Formats: sequence, C-alpha cells, structure tokens
Amino acid sequence: MELLKRTTTCGALGKADAGKTVVLNGWVHRKRDHGGVSFINLRDRYGITQVVVDAPVPGGETPGDLAAVSGELRNEYCVAVEGVVRLRPPPMVNPDMATGEIEVAARRILILNRCELLPFQIDEESDAKEENRLKYRYLDLRSGGMQRRIRLRSEVCFAVREWMTGQGFLEIETPTFIRSTPEGARDYLVPSRLYPGKFYALPQSPQLYKQLLMAAGFDKYFQIARCYRDEDARGDRQPEFTQIDIEMSFVDREDVLAMTEGLLGYVFKKTLNRDLPPRFTRLSFEEALERYGTDKPDLRFDLPLRDFGPYAAEGGFQAFKDALAAGEADRAAAAARGIAASGGGVKALVVPGELMGNAPYSRKQIEELEAQAKIYKARGLAWMKVGGTEGAAVLEGGVSKFFGEAALTEKILAGLGAKRGDLILIAADAKRRIANTALGAVRSKLGRDLKLLDSGRFEFVWILDFPLFEFNEEENRWEAAHHMFSFPQEKYHARMEQDPGSVKGDLYDLVLNGFELASGSIRIHDPELQKRVFAVVGLKPEEAERKFGFLTGAFKYGAPPHGGIAPGLDRLVMLMAGETSIKEVIAFPKNSFAVSPMDESPGEVDRKQLEELHLTVAAPPEAP
Ligand code: AMO
Repeated sequence: MELLKRTTTCGALGKADAGKTVVLNGWVHRKRDHGGVSFINLRDRYGITQVVVDAPVPGGETPGDLAAVSGELRNEYCVAVEGVVRLRPPPMVNPDMATGEIEVAARRILILNRCELLPFQIDEESDAKEENRLKYRYLDLRSGGMQRRIRLRSEVCFAVREWMTGQGFLEIETPTFIRSTPEGARDYLVPSRLYPGKFYALPQSPQLYKQLLMAAGFDKYFQIARCYRDEDARGDRQPEFTQIDIEMSFVDREDVLAMTEGLLGYVFKKTLNRDLPPRFTRLSFEEALERYGTDKPDLRFDLPLRDFGPYAAEGGFQAFKDALAAGEADRAAAAARGIAASGGGVKALVVPGELMGNAPYSRKQIEELEAQAKIYKARGLAWMKVGGTEGAAVLEGGVSKFFGEAALTEKILAGLGAKRGDLILIAADAKRRIANTALGAVRSKLGRDLKLLDSGRFEFVWILDFPLFEFNEEENRWEAAHHMFSFPQEKYHARMEQDPGSVKGDLYDLVLNGFELASGSIRIHDPELQKRVFAVVGLKPEEAERKFGFLTGAFKYGAPPHGGIAPGLDRLVMLMAGETSIKEVIAFPKNSFAVSPMDESPGEVDRKQLEELHLTVAAPPEAP
C-alpha cells in the first residue's frame, strides 16, 4: 500500500505557510458538503486543519477522481492529503482554531484505512457510557480531552524526571515480583511455576526496597513506580496505579517537605505555567480535624468548624449536654488507665447567607445535610437560623429556643461570627472525633452544593503530626496508621507501649483540593525501635522476622537515617487537569469492578496453564 508520508501535522500550519504544498496524515473529524465543495476537518494529535476539495488545482488529480475519493470519506477514516496551503477568505477565518486562518486545498487524497460505524462519536469529550468508553478505549482516547490529559501526564513525568535528576536523585527500578508483605490492602499474587505452592506478590509500593536502597548508600532515589493494591475501587483509586516514589538519606521532615514543594512548584510551572507558593500551608492532624473535620481538607473554601461546647454548656439543650457529659466520663475512665482521650464534642458550622444565595435553606435541604452527617455516625444535625427584622439579630427555628436568652444569643453570634441570614449547623457526640468528622462531611457537601469548588484553583496543605497508631475496634488491637516503618517522634518513645494512642509519628500527608496527594514519613533505622513498633501492633518476633527480616537485617549494618514520600501520579495529573476521577488520566484503566471491558481481564486461562502453575480452581467461576 502506498503511504503518502506527512510533511507536517494538523496543528502546525498558519498564515506564513500560504502557498506551500504539504502532506497531512490524520483522521476525518467532520465532513461537510456544500454544493460541490467539501470541507474536511482533518485531525491528528496536534490539532485540526480544514481541507477543502473544490475546484481543480493546476498539476493535481482530475477533479472527478478527487471528488470520488472525497465522496467516500466518512468520520474517522484514516487518510493522507496532499494539497496547497491557502489563506481563508476573511469571513471564513476561525479565530478559535489554531489553524483557523488557513485551509489546505486538496489535490490528492489517499484512504489509508476505512472506519466502520462508530460505537460513539469522537468529540471533545465523549458522552458515551463509561463502560463503552472503556470497551472502545482506543476510540475514546482519540477525543480532544483524553488526548490533552494523556499529553499532560507525559509532560508531568518528564518534568518530574528533569527536576529530580537536576537535584541529584537517581532513578532506580525496584522489582515488581516481590515477597508478599501486605501494607494495608490485599496483595495481588503471582503463582510460581518453578516452586509449587509459592507465590510472588506485586508490590503495593516500593516502600521496603527504597529503604534498602538507602541502606545501600543511594542517598537520593526516585522512581515513577507502578503499584498494585487489591482494594475497593473509588474515583481516586485504581487496582494498579503510579507513584512518584522518593527516598532520601540524612534528612529530617523539613528536608522532605521542602524537596516536595520544590518538585511540585517546578512541575506546575513547567506544565501549566502556574506559580505555586514556595511553602505550602501546614496543619497538624488534630488542627485539621478540629477545623475541617477531616485530614483531607479542601481549602478552596473556608467554612471552618467551631467549638460550640461552651454555649452548649450554658444553653438548655439536653442532648448537647449529655454528649459532653458522656464524653467527660469516657475521658475520666481513660485517664484512670493512664490513657489520653479527647472526650465529647459539640461543633458548629456557620453557612453565610450570601453563599446560599440569600435564600434560606429549606427543611428538605437541611434534612439532606443531616443524612450526610448520619453516614458519618452522627445521631443528628441540629440547626438554627439567624433572623430578626430590626434591632438585634435573633436565633430562629430548630434548636433556637434553647439558646434564645438574649445575652447567650449575643455571645453565640459574636463567638461564631454569625449574622442575619446565616444558617448554623451543630453536631454533638460523646466522641469528639464523630462530631468533627460528621460535620466535616456536611462541610464537604456544602462545598459541592454551593459550588465552592473551583477546579482551576490549587490549594495545597501539609497535614503533620499524625498519630503513629490507630486502634482497630473490630480486631481490638493497635495498628500502624500509615505503615510500620515510620518514626515515632522522640518525645513519645518512653511511653510508646503504655499509651500507643498518644504517640505522634514523623508522618506527613500532602493534601490538594481535598484529595490525599502524597504520603510519607521519616523512617525508623534503629532495629531495636523497629522491634518495639512491631510489638505494639502485635506482630510476633518470628512473624516480623519472616516478613520483614530482610529489611531489619539490613538495618543492622549501619543503615543511615532516612525518610521519603510518594505523591500519587494519577491523582496529581487528575487534579491538574481539573478532573475528579483518575480514570480520566490513565490510558487503559479498569472499571469500578476492577475489570477491563476492552481486553476482558481478568480472564480465564487454559487448563494447561493452571496445571503448569500447580493450581486448581476450587469452585467454577460464578456468572458475573
Ligand atoms: P500511600 O499508601 O499513602 O503511601 O500512597 C501514597 C500515594 O499514592 C496514591 N495512591 C493511590 N492512587 C491511586 N489508586 C490507589 N489505589 C492509590 N493508593 C495510593 C495516593 C497516596 O497519597 N510507601 C508509602 C509512601 C511513603 O511512605 O513514602 C505509600 O505507598 O496519592
């Protein structure tokens, strides 16, 4: 087959090229016929150029042949066009198109491949169902939006490599067939043919290997690493995803934070031409919970949670008082066991009238907010409106009658900064954490409902001083809040075993627009301290040795102090592209059921393959 090779792309031609003979290769994006003249929008990944099939051009094919080929063209035919660049007549100039000042007068068109009836139209963004978009992903990827996002992803990777390499980091690959050492999610396993009954696991992250690289003296490591986790899908989660994995030796927390700020500043400037602040906002884990009810606060809007406890104590609403009293009893019981507990909480959130369009929220809208709070275990969501026509503002509706005494009302309004037209929402619970998280979830819903989420804004915040351990109520044991290799802050070492709940770790998360973008920590490099942490989470010495012996073994040979971080590449590009699902920035993602509708993985395998792997399937697979 003849291949008429392109001399330029569909996004390159402009006024200065008028008169040139060119060859373009691409796809028929749209075609219009106007009384003998055909307009073909020819598309490749660089742009769109208008091709015109009209009057004969000296030296070209006979118009009859050209018209016949052009007549055959349908959307998404792959073609080569040879023609002459000419200026469009002034009324036809399209200022919205990069190539809008010119067109190419065709003198030869070669069909490189035909296209069958399309399952959906290739557009700027496809409105086809997700399942169809994934089944025909190669077509979906032709859309303008997907092309831009995949290109952005490539540019981000390049900028990461450029910056990291410039800072003296080495890019080092680590194995993807490793020993199973679950980090939090389930492992994906790969059966060994040579060793019946044994399995490799796919890494959930290169965590252990990057620490071993530090022991090996590669003091600045990075890798754009594939990670695999068998966990429930969500908009910002995929079973296989990519991290910008980083580890450094001889550093403290500040070094890692500053490095990350430098990296992201470079990437945003280079790829989006956006300036980030040189230092990101910081909140401690506790501040984040108290102020926003979550460790992933979206700081594109404020709406802070405030303490309503003092007013609850003064007012007459019994449910609030009961929550505080029950919390106080819990705290006293914990204190008697030498453990710190936060007690109860009554928290308030003021929704300014102007954000609600100066129209008071209806009962139904408030009930929807309450339903949200209940998902996060709140018993209810109390409310009051700030009203009154003249003179002092008054509290109205909901639980207002318990706080209506003039001096108390005045104190509440001044303390919360609430004014006429505002709505006050209140959550109370004997567990302060529940009051905070439930109201935090209400805050997030308000952010969405009131359209406060500007996708063009980037609000970074570091969350610091996380607890090292979390209590798993179901299993009645302590577990690592991040992973077991994070360094407990020095001042907690002495009482780590007695009160694990109070231990803060040298852990940090970077949150961008309400998404956890990156996580990291300073690591333990002292084998004795590591043993103590294993013991707190109930890992027996033999089990620890079996699972992590190769890491703790390496620590015995002069491993340096070290720490690192791992920003999720998919989430980073998703947020940079203003999207809310990482599928939009992954060329071939899985659907929400961990299935690829295109190649139908996971799929069955031949009996012979199973036999070679010494596997039998216990039960016939259930129909989906
Ligand atoms: P962590 O498990 O917090 O830390 O992961 C780091 C970052 O990776 C991204 N991420 C995901 N992205 C898409 N789909 C997933 N299923 C998924 N899971 C995580 C997030 C997250 O912030 N080894 C440690 C890092 C370290 O301590 O250096 C780790 O993996 O953006």
